[in-house]
Amino acid sequence: LYEYQDSTTSKVYLVGAGPGDPELLTLRAAKILAMADVVIYDRLVSAEILALANAEARFVYVGKQQGDQDRIQEEISKHLLHFAARYKTVVRLKGGDPMVFARGAEEWLLLRENGYDVEVIPGISSAVAGPTQAGIPLTLRGVAASFTVVAGHRQSIMETNWADLAKVDTIVVLMGVENRELIAESLIQQGRPLDQPVAFIERATTERRRVVTGTLEEMAKGRLQVESPAVLVIGEVVRMRQQLLDAPPARIREEIAVRQDLKV
Ligand SMILES: C[S@@+](CC[C@H](N)C(=O)[O-])C[C@H]1O[C@@H](n2cnc3c(N)ncnc32)[C@H](O)[C@@H]1O
Repeated sequence: LYEYQDSTTSKVYLVGAGPGDPELLTLRAAKILAMADVVIYDRLVSAEILALANAEARFVYVGKQQGDQDRIQEEISKHLLHFAARYKTVVRLKGGDPMVFARGAEEWLLLRENGYDVEVIPGISSAVAGPTQAGIPLTLRGVAASFTVVAGHRQSIMETNWADLAKVDTIVVLMGVENRELIAESLIQQGRPLDQPVAFIERATTERRRVVTGTLEEMAKGRLQVESPAVLVIGEVVRMRQQLLDAPPARIREEIAVRQDLKV
């Protein structure tokens, strides 16, 4: 099993595992997983998705823990080169999309610089899938013409230009659970309304999905209890969720109308 291969015949697939639900994996990702010799995967990749991979494959977990991210990434780079030199079909599997807050480009470049053939397979990012599945459109005619996706971890928060960010209609924050109060305070300071709606979508697209909604003010005051991983959405579009969920389907409305002898 552990044969050395000529590295020029190896191919590394940089694969997006999608937001969680295995049915949201792309067909291409499922096909490549089924023929993988080794699968190097991250923390947010579910067991159901790993179950779609070749059962004979070697599975290598490189989930990033808290700590020095650069040092952790160096370790991952070593793993990648180690396995690329030894296996023919190497899958580097990352949650969501491999190029959205996932260091996909860095790994791609490293592999290219070391002479490996790389194919990237996009995945559905949690940044989009989370809000969409929760009934929150990131853009909405007349309400939100733009959205931006930012990271909410400490390093990113220190580098954020809040005045610029506050101008975007819909703000999506990944990795923002821990710093949610600071994020809300900073946006309020830049003029976002206190009653602007916010939503956290925990474990989007999985069976344990939970949506927590509130206002920027409640978020700033620490009143929203949320667990990671979650996608945070800030903006007027969050109000649409209630309408989409509450609106009775047209068919039922029609039946009611007929019964009450009303015009639809
Ligand atoms: C390091 S980033 C990776 C993002 C990933 N590449 C993507 O496109 O979804 C990890 C963050 O993504 C978000 N995330 C990923 N999967 C999620 C899910 N199923 N539900 C909620 N948030 C998720 C969380 O904010 C989490 O802290």
